[in-house]
Amino acid sequence: MDVLEVDHPLAKARLTTMRDARTDSAAFRAALHELTLMLIYEAMRDAPVRVERIHTPVARTDGYELANPPLLVPVLRAGLGMADQAHKLIPDAQMGFVGMSRDEETLKPTPYMESLPESLAGRPVFVLDPMLATGGSMKYTIELLVGRGATDVTAVCALAAPEGIRVLAESGLPVRLVTASIDERLNDSGFIVPGLGDAGDRQYGAV
Ligand code: PRP
Repeated sequence: MDVLEVDHPLAKARLTTMRDARTDSAAFRAALHELTLMLIYEAMRDAPVRVERIHTPVARTDGYELANPPLLVPVLRAGLGMADQAHKLIPDAQMGFVGMSRDEETLKPTPYMESLPESLAGRPVFVLDPMLATGGSMKYTIELLVGRGATDVTAVCALAAPEGIRVLAESGLPVRLVTASIDERLNDSGFIVPGLGDAGDRQYGAV
Protein backbone atom coordinates (compact mmCIF):
# COMPACT_ATOMS: atom_id res chain seq x y z
CA MET A 1 0.00 0.00 0.00
CA ASP A 2 1.26 3.48 -0.86
CA VAL A 3 1.63 5.67 2.22
CA LEU A 4 2.35 9.39 1.89
CA GLU A 5 3.42 11.05 5.13
CA VAL A 6 3.09 14.78 4.52
CA ASP A 7 6.26 16.10 6.09
CA HIS A 8 5.92 19.88 6.09
CA PRO A 9 6.56 22.45 8.83
CA LEU A 10 3.08 23.98 8.43
CA ALA A 11 1.43 20.55 8.75
CA LYS A 12 3.57 19.69 11.77
CA ALA A 13 2.61 22.97 13.46
CA ARG A 14 -1.14 22.35 12.98
CA LEU A 15 -0.80 18.78 14.19
CA THR A 16 1.06 20.02 17.26
CA THR A 17 -1.86 22.32 18.09
CA MET A 18 -4.22 19.35 17.74
CA ARG A 19 -2.06 17.10 19.92
CA ASP A 20 -1.67 19.64 22.74
CA ALA A 21 -4.11 18.79 25.54
CA ARG A 22 -4.47 22.51 26.35
CA THR A 23 -6.02 23.26 22.93
CA ASP A 24 -9.76 24.00 23.24
CA SER A 25 -12.42 22.78 20.79
CA ALA A 26 -12.51 25.93 18.65
CA ALA A 27 -8.73 25.97 18.19
CA PHE A 28 -8.70 22.22 17.58
CA ARG A 29 -11.29 22.55 14.82
CA ALA A 30 -9.38 25.44 13.25
CA ALA A 31 -6.13 23.47 13.21
CA LEU A 32 -7.86 20.42 11.70
CA HIS A 33 -9.44 22.62 9.00
CA GLU A 34 -6.06 24.02 8.02
CA LEU A 35 -4.31 20.66 8.15
CA THR A 36 -7.03 19.20 5.92
CA LEU A 37 -6.23 21.75 3.20
CA MET A 38 -2.62 20.60 3.25
CA LEU A 39 -3.47 16.89 3.19
CA ILE A 40 -5.94 17.29 0.33
CA TYR A 41 -3.49 19.46 -1.59
CA GLU A 42 -0.90 16.67 -1.40
CA ALA A 43 -3.45 13.92 -2.05
CA MET A 44 -4.47 15.65 -5.30
CA ARG A 45 -0.94 16.10 -6.60
CA ASP A 46 -1.26 13.46 -9.34
CA ALA A 47 -4.95 13.95 -10.11
CA PRO A 48 -5.64 13.90 -13.85
CA VAL A 49 -6.45 17.23 -15.47
CA ARG A 50 -8.18 18.22 -18.67
CA VAL A 51 -6.45 20.84 -20.80
CA GLU A 52 -8.43 23.54 -22.55
CA ARG A 53 -7.29 26.60 -24.43
CA ILE A 54 -8.32 29.84 -22.74
CA HIS A 55 -7.78 33.54 -23.39
CA THR A 56 -6.06 35.70 -20.81
CA PRO A 57 -6.48 39.45 -21.39
CA VAL A 58 -3.12 39.23 -23.18
CA ALA A 59 -2.83 35.93 -25.03
CA ARG A 60 -4.11 32.41 -25.58
CA THR A 61 -2.75 29.76 -23.21
CA ASP A 62 -3.45 26.30 -21.78
CA GLY A 63 -5.97 26.13 -18.92
CA TYR A 64 -6.55 23.15 -16.64
CA GLU A 65 -9.49 21.61 -14.83
CA LEU A 66 -9.87 18.40 -12.86
CA ALA A 67 -10.76 15.58 -15.22
CA ASN A 68 -12.36 13.34 -12.58
CA PRO A 69 -12.89 14.98 -9.17
CA PRO A 70 -13.03 12.47 -6.30
CA LEU A 71 -16.10 11.64 -4.29
CA LEU A 72 -15.46 12.94 -0.76
CA VAL A 73 -16.65 10.68 2.06
CA PRO A 74 -16.28 12.04 5.60
CA VAL A 75 -16.71 9.39 8.31
CA LEU A 76 -19.01 10.84 10.97
CA ARG A 77 -18.54 12.32 13.46
CA ALA A 78 -14.89 13.25 13.43
CA GLY A 79 -14.52 13.33 9.64
CA LEU A 80 -17.09 16.13 9.43
CA GLY A 81 -14.33 18.47 10.57
CA MET A 82 -12.51 17.78 7.29
CA ALA A 83 -15.47 17.86 4.90
CA ASP A 84 -15.94 21.58 4.23
CA GLN A 85 -12.25 22.24 3.79
CA ALA A 86 -11.81 19.38 1.33
CA HIS A 87 -14.85 20.71 -0.54
CA LYS A 88 -13.33 24.19 -0.68
CA LEU A 89 -10.30 22.86 -2.50
CA ILE A 90 -12.37 20.59 -4.77
CA PRO A 91 -15.63 22.49 -5.29
CA ASP A 92 -16.74 20.13 -8.09
CA ALA A 93 -16.57 17.10 -5.80
CA GLN A 94 -19.71 15.22 -4.83
CA MET A 95 -19.96 14.19 -1.17
CA GLY A 96 -21.17 10.95 0.41
CA PHE A 97 -21.39 10.15 4.12
CA VAL A 98 -20.74 7.19 6.38
CA GLY A 99 -21.63 7.27 10.08
CA MET A 100 -19.77 5.00 12.43
CA SER A 101 -18.77 4.86 16.06
CA ARG A 102 -16.23 2.56 17.60
CA ASP A 103 -17.38 0.37 20.48
CA GLU A 104 -15.21 1.44 23.41
CA GLU A 105 -15.01 -2.12 24.79
CA THR A 106 -14.50 -4.24 21.69
CA LEU A 107 -12.98 -1.45 19.49
CA LYS A 108 -15.19 -2.76 16.65
CA PRO A 109 -16.84 -0.21 14.34
CA THR A 110 -20.61 0.14 14.70
CA PRO A 111 -22.07 1.66 11.50
CA TYR A 112 -25.24 3.74 11.89
CA MET A 113 -25.62 5.54 8.56
CA GLU A 114 -24.53 5.52 4.96
CA SER A 115 -25.37 7.81 2.09
CA LEU A 116 -23.37 6.96 -1.00
CA PRO A 117 -23.92 6.99 -4.78
CA GLU A 118 -25.05 3.59 -6.06
CA SER A 119 -22.13 3.10 -8.45
CA LEU A 120 -18.58 4.19 -7.82
CA ALA A 121 -17.08 2.51 -10.87
CA GLY A 122 -14.42 4.71 -12.40
CA ARG A 123 -14.60 7.29 -9.62
CA PRO A 124 -11.77 8.05 -7.22
CA VAL A 125 -12.93 8.29 -3.60
CA PHE A 126 -11.33 10.20 -0.72
CA VAL A 127 -12.33 8.94 2.74
CA LEU A 128 -11.88 11.66 5.35
CA ASP A 129 -11.27 10.67 8.97
CA PRO A 130 -8.81 12.38 11.32
CA MET A 131 -7.67 9.09 12.86
CA LEU A 132 -6.67 5.65 11.69
CA ALA A 133 -6.31 3.62 14.90
CA THR A 134 -7.04 -0.13 14.72
CA GLY A 135 -8.11 0.45 11.10
CA GLY A 136 -11.49 -1.19 11.70
CA SER A 137 -13.57 1.87 10.79
CA MET A 138 -11.56 2.66 7.66
CA LYS A 139 -11.55 -0.98 6.48
CA TYR A 140 -15.32 -1.21 6.93
CA THR A 141 -15.83 2.05 5.02
CA ILE A 142 -13.58 1.00 2.14
CA GLU A 143 -15.36 -2.35 1.90
CA LEU A 144 -18.64 -0.44 1.49
CA LEU A 145 -17.08 1.62 -1.30
CA VAL A 146 -15.56 -1.39 -3.05
CA GLY A 147 -18.95 -3.10 -2.84
CA ARG A 148 -20.23 -0.25 -5.01
CA GLY A 149 -17.46 -0.63 -7.56
CA ALA A 150 -14.73 1.69 -6.24
CA THR A 151 -11.22 0.68 -7.28
CA ASP A 152 -9.28 3.82 -6.33
CA VAL A 153 -9.62 4.89 -2.68
CA THR A 154 -7.49 7.37 -0.74
CA ALA A 155 -7.71 7.42 3.07
CA VAL A 156 -6.97 10.97 4.25
CA CYS A 157 -6.13 10.95 7.97
CA ALA A 158 -4.49 13.53 10.23
CA LEU A 159 -2.62 10.74 11.94
CA ALA A 160 -2.29 6.99 11.73
CA ALA A 161 -1.13 4.14 13.96
CA PRO A 162 1.15 1.44 12.52
CA GLU A 163 -1.44 -1.17 13.56
CA GLY A 164 -4.13 0.45 11.37
CA ILE A 165 -1.77 0.85 8.44
CA ARG A 166 -0.94 -2.86 8.67
CA VAL A 167 -4.64 -3.80 8.67
CA LEU A 168 -5.24 -1.78 5.50
CA ALA A 169 -2.09 -3.05 3.80
CA GLU A 170 -2.96 -6.68 4.54
CA SER A 171 -6.61 -6.26 3.51
CA GLY A 172 -5.70 -6.17 -0.18
CA LEU A 173 -8.21 -3.33 -0.62
CA PRO A 174 -7.42 -0.74 -3.33
CA VAL A 175 -6.34 2.03 -0.95
CA ARG A 176 -3.50 4.45 -0.40
CA LEU A 177 -3.00 6.55 2.72
CA VAL A 178 -2.20 10.25 3.03
CA THR A 179 -1.44 11.34 6.59
CA ALA A 180 0.46 14.02 8.51
CA SER A 181 1.98 11.50 10.92
CA ILE A 182 2.57 7.84 11.51
CA ASP A 183 2.53 7.66 15.29
CA GLU A 184 4.21 5.11 17.58
CA ARG A 185 1.50 2.62 18.53
CA LEU A 186 -1.91 1.99 20.06
CA ASN A 187 -2.32 1.75 23.83
CA ASP A 188 -4.42 -0.90 25.59
CA SER A 189 -7.56 1.24 25.20
CA GLY A 190 -7.05 1.51 21.44
CA PHE A 191 -5.91 5.15 21.54
CA ILE A 192 -3.11 6.32 19.29
CA VAL A 193 0.12 7.15 21.19
CA PRO A 194 1.16 9.95 21.38
CA GLY A 195 -1.94 10.80 19.31
CA LEU A 196 -4.35 13.59 20.15
CA GLY A 197 -7.06 11.86 22.19
CA ASP A 198 -10.48 11.40 20.56
CA ALA A 199 -10.85 13.65 17.51
CA GLY A 200 -14.67 13.58 17.68
CA ASP A 201 -14.79 14.54 21.35
CA ARG A 202 -12.14 17.21 20.94
CA GLN A 203 -14.08 18.89 18.13
CA TYR A 204 -17.64 18.45 19.32
CA GLY A 205 -17.53 17.41 22.99
CA ALA A 206 -17.93 13.96 24.55
CA VAL A 207 -21.22 12.14 23.98
C1 PRP B 1 -12.79 7.52 15.84
C2 PRP B 1 -12.12 8.04 14.57
C3 PRP B 1 -12.28 6.90 13.60
C4 PRP B 1 -12.16 5.71 14.51
C5 PRP B 1 -10.75 5.19 14.42
O1 PRP B 1 -14.16 7.69 15.77
O2 PRP B 1 -12.67 9.24 14.11
O3 PRP B 1 -13.53 6.90 12.94
O4 PRP B 1 -12.42 6.14 15.85
O5 PRP B 1 -10.65 4.01 15.12
P1 PRP B 1 -10.35 2.61 14.43
O6 PRP B 1 -9.29 2.82 13.41
O7 PRP B 1 -9.85 1.79 15.60
O8 PRP B 1 -11.62 2.07 13.87
P2 PRP B 1 -15.13 7.39 17.01
O9 PRP B 1 -15.52 5.97 17.06
O10 PRP B 1 -14.50 7.93 18.27
O11 PRP B 1 -16.44 8.16 16.63
P3 PRP B 1 -16.73 9.73 16.48
O12 PRP B 1 -16.06 10.14 15.18
O13 PRP B 1 -18.22 9.80 16.40
O14 PRP B 1 -16.17 10.44 17.67
